[in-house]
Amino acid sequence: MTALKVEQSGAKIIDGKVVAKKMRADQKAQVELLQAKGVTPGLAVVLVGEDPASEIYVSRKVKACEAVGIKSISYRLPATISNEELLVLIGKLNADQNVHGILVQLPLPKHIDMAKVLETIAPEKDVDGFHLYNVGALVVGRQIFPPCTPYGVMHLLEYSDIPIEGRNVVVVGASNIVGKPMALMLMARDATVAICHAKTRDLGQWTMLADILVVAAGVPNLIVSQMVKTGAVVIDVGINRLPDGRIVGDVDFEGVRKKASYISPVPGGVGPMTIAMLLENTIISAQRFAASDI
Ligand code: GUN
Repeated sequence: MTALKVEQSGAKIIDGKVVAKKMRADQKAQVELLQAKGVTPGLAVVLVGEDPASEIYVSRKVKACEAVGIKSISYRLPATISNEELLVLIGKLNADQNVHGILVQLPLPKHIDMAKVLETIAPEKDVDGFHLYNVGALVVGRQIFPPCTPYGVMHLLEYSDIPIEGRNVVVVGASNIVGKPMALMLMARDATVAICHAKTRDLGQWTMLADILVVAAGVPNLIVSQMVKTGAVVIDVGINRLPDGRIVGDVDFEGVRKKASYISPVPGGVGPMTIAMLLENTIISAQRFAASDI
């Protein structure tokens, strides 16, 4: 099985579904080993409110847990829940020996203090990698729980045998969830990294420099072929729903595939990897728990 379908002309397609499926087989085996030691990995999934996109992401995460034998425990809370109530729930999950990972789906309703919520999750259960402790680890070149989406991108690059060291990487998008940790992970691998964002002037001048271009801006068709160097590797992290219901990324796929050497599609590129890495982090957390014999 290969994740790379060679196109007649243009880029090889990096198929995240294939890579995630391959990982799933290994994850299932890891879970069975843990179960033999009396530990079933447990992931608490907290969804506040009724954001339709979040509902879909959360149900996919829960389904993926089931597929590898991770026990997921869902908490669907009304949008009206108070900060205090949410913090109390997180405190309970922190103390629960059967919970190895805690995921609070973002975005949260405006009245909730997101920073406080993320800091309240015990760092050793922070499988999303959003706690300040885990972010700090990334800054100093360590990975305790790497955030799932950029971690998934790193796996796709590795699986596709794309060298990173010494290469020019441009990350478009500077979010805490994707852009910033992505840049840190690539720096840890000795890439030369530039981060562009909504206020970057003449974006194309920057993206043209990229041997590897990672786009996570949330803007459909932001990157067109004139902005891409011939032979570049293009990773599209965007997930945008168009008015006609179609899901597209941030890259003009049809145009850019003719110029790039590798390209990840949307859907079916980075998306499945985000979930695969969440399962990976949850299993690692349960393995640490089992090893420490808490
Ligand atoms: N919202 C969008 N991406 C993510 C993610 O990776 N984790 C969580 N918890 N919420 C998200």
